[in-house]
Amino acid sequence: MAEKGGKVAQLHIGDLCIELPILSGNEGPDVIDVSNLAAQGYFTYDPGFVSTAACDSNVTYIDGDKGILLHRGYPIEQLAEHSDYLELCYLLLNGDLPTADEKTRFVNTIKHHTMVHEQLSQFFKGFRRDAHPMAIMCGVTGALSAFYHDSLDIDNWDHRRITAHRLIAKMPTLAAMSYKYSQGEPFIYPRNDLDYAENFLHMMFATPCENYEVNPIIAKAMDRIFLLHADHEQNASTSTVRLAGSTGANPFACIAAGIAALWGPAHGGANEAVLNMLAEIGDEKNIGKYLKKAKDKNDPFRIMGFGHRVYKNYDPRAKVMQQTCREVLDELGVRDDPILQLAQKLEKIALEDEYFIEKKLYPNVDFYSGIILKAIGIPTEMFTVIFATGRTPGWITHWNEMISGPYKIGRPRQLYKGPSRRDYVPIEDR
Ligand code: CMC
Repeated sequence: MAEKGGKVAQLHIGDLCIELPILSGNEGPDVIDVSNLAAQGYFTYDPGFVSTAACDSNVTYIDGDKGILLHRGYPIEQLAEHSDYLELCYLLLNGDLPTADEKTRFVNTIKHHTMVHEQLSQFFKGFRRDAHPMAIMCGVTGALSAFYHDSLDIDNWDHRRITAHRLIAKMPTLAAMSYKYSQGEPFIYPRNDLDYAENFLHMMFATPCENYEVNPIIAKAMDRIFLLHADHEQNASTSTVRLAGSTGANPFACIAAGIAALWGPAHGGANEAVLNMLAEIGDEKNIGKYLKKAKDKNDPFRIMGFGHRVYKNYDPRAKVMQQTCREVLDELGVRDDPILQLAQKLEKIALEDEYFIEKKLYPNVDFYSGIILKAIGIPTEMFTVIFATGRTPGWITHWNEMISGPYKIGRPRQLYKGPSRRDYVPIEDR
């Protein structure tokens, strides 16, 4: 990060001229450094952080206008085609692709951390059987901090590394446990002879009475879903993890905060919301009515799985996901599923609609991931849990990046519009 040829922006307020340094990254727009503005008696105002860079980062770069997504410089399309989820986890955590030896060691390490403490399974019993699995995930992920007192020193690099490994390894186990609990079925232990995605499917669908034969096409699709969700720069949940982490909170608590932020339908909850919306639309003949609702400013309804804060072009993850979607539907022979057909019809009509074209609303990653997960047989309530599992390396990498460098507690300011000072009125005089 450099001051661009010593160039500065000038802010004129009456007779006052404030000089603000202009910083340049390796990619993307220049950034005006306003960090010293408070000393001059001013704050900046940017609800939703639409124009605000809250940190500098080396992890992921997005060009939303061109539809580019790079992890540590590598395009997502190349990673999806040639790499796999655990290799991407290594890349995110370490900054470079692993050698063959490094990869083998990393995969082994993750495999040997997949079990959770037996005592943790007791936590699940505190939840109702119909609890949303995201509610369970927020709770049990935060609870991990009660099990790993040996590695909670955030200033210790080894502690941070083992925590990252534990989180990546245990999230699929916790995710599958939250599903099994909702079904009233016994938890299925992880199997170290399976790869990451296969193991997740095994823990989801095997029972003590019956093994689950993992279909390689489904396992590949699952791996791809994890891979495509692994990181996405400073999105709402990652920023939540950073904000929580900036207080010095332990990493399990920070990731639990990220899971809570992800749950909302504007973020990771959208994949579940897509399927609920399709069920509500019900039939092709209703698409027009729902598009009309989506365009109505007085109606809160939106086409879920469409639009993105950063992408004003096709979400590059959605393109890969669309291809995986076709592979899975062909493999399972469910191209005729009415909900899936409705989704395809809705996509086509929305992409040709003037409103969606003008506002640059394209399908995002969540539009297709929900369709694939439904076809695989994963229940809708688990969709966001799977997103959370995939996003864990991104969250922990950003947390680690922040903790490794100089950082300040995140503390936004406000434009106060409430009453000015007034005196307390005794109750009998009101
Ligand atoms: N359907 C209909 N209209 C929409 C939609 C949509 N899905 N998304 C945005 N718009 C309209 C919106 O009404 C606004 O119109 P106007 O300018 O007339 O007020 C305009 O497009 C810009 O929308 P915005 O809400 O100001 O944009 P934002 O950047 O604040 O919101 C978003 C981005 C993703 C929250 C939003 O597009 C949305 O709610 N999409 C549906 C939910 C969804 O699919 N979320 C998943 C995002 S991708 C996965 C992830 O990162 O978690």
